[in-house]
Amino acid sequence: MLVLGLETSCDETGVALYDSEQGLLADALFSQIDLHRVYGGVVPELASRDHVKRMLPLIRQVLEEAGREAGQIDAVAYTAGPGLVGALLVGASCAQALALAWGVPAVGVHHMEGHLLAPMLEAQPPQFPFVALLVSGGHTQLVRVDGIGRYELLGESVDDAAGEAFDKTAKLMGLRYPGGPEIARLAEQGTPGRFVFPRPMTDRPGLDFSFSGLKTFTLNTWQQCRSAGDESEQTRCDIALAFQQAVVETLTIKCRRALRQTGLKSLVIAGGVSANQSLRQALERMLGEFKGQVFYARPRFCTDNGAMIAYAGCQRLLAGQHDGPAITVQSRWSMDTLPAI
Ligand code: KG4
Ligand code: ZN
Repeated sequence: MLVLGLETSCDETGVALYDSEQGLLADALFSQIDLHRVYGGVVPELASRDHVKRMLPLIRQVLEEAGREAGQIDAVAYTAGPGLVGALLVGASCAQALALAWGVPAVGVHHMEGHLLAPMLEAQPPQFPFVALLVSGGHTQLVRVDGIGRYELLGESVDDAAGEAFDKTAKLMGLRYPGGPEIARLAEQGTPGRFVFPRPMTDRPGLDFSFSGLKTFTLNTWQQCRSAGDESEQTRCDIALAFQQAVVETLTIKCRRALRQTGLKSLVIAGGVSANQSLRQALERMLGEFKGQVFYARPRFCTDNGAMIAYAGCQRLLAGQHDGPAITVQSRWSMDTLPAI
């Protein structure tokens, strides 16, 4: 089955062609980062308009790269939520219109299920069951995964998501959007131990997270340095390192607890923050203790992309699921409501 996947939930237009027999044939992405950077974050209306502009050229590009014709496509998968409503509607309208024109089914995919399944596109995919740490700009969740659509939420952030904490902290320190890669870059030059930040909610039981206090702690530290006349690049790097270490260690502590609690030995990390090298290394070390394994997607499939949507959509289509022709999207959508396959 040849599936066209469209991703438009936020500020990336992603398109991919996935074949159930041959795997991923082609994928293309247009990132709107430069468009939104001057505003310090995503401007929803600008995002929607840009998705309209990019979508059809990207679809033509993947068809050409894969050496396929539109007439060979068996189904269209699109991100139906969660995300920015206007942006989601562009992908949903485009997918439904193409499906109608081509006489093929369309299926709406949950964006976080897409992220969760992205490591399945790699050469050594994880096997069910596993624990998944979903860390994106909008979500931080620990989930027990027994199969597609068989999700048990173990814990989640009570305030900011991990990616959001990176983005907001970076903004407070005058860094560019998106903050995650910027903080990671500065942290590489940071002096270990100059600052040590708290590891929120690790001193009490449970698998929930909270990152907003850490953001405030970072801001206070930065302001104290500035009032003392120290706005040096090195200080920025040292603060970035302390912040990143606090997030990474907090996530690692909670993952260790989730593995102990479930008795599982496989951990999948997915979503934009799973591209973070320091997080990957810390989790790999921790999984070493369990004689377990950590799985993640290649960096460009950690952040938003069309390949994960084409893959997730294909699995649901193969199980006989698809949607009617209505163009419906959901800005908020819990993964627990998804049907099992
Ligand atoms: O999954 P994603 O592309 O979009 C959402 O679904 O939200 O995640 C984007 C988030 C942003 O907050 C970005 O700062 C963060 O992922 N991110 C990173 C890194 N690369 C992207 N955070 C930390 N380290 C990175 N290397
Ligand atoms: Zn995402």
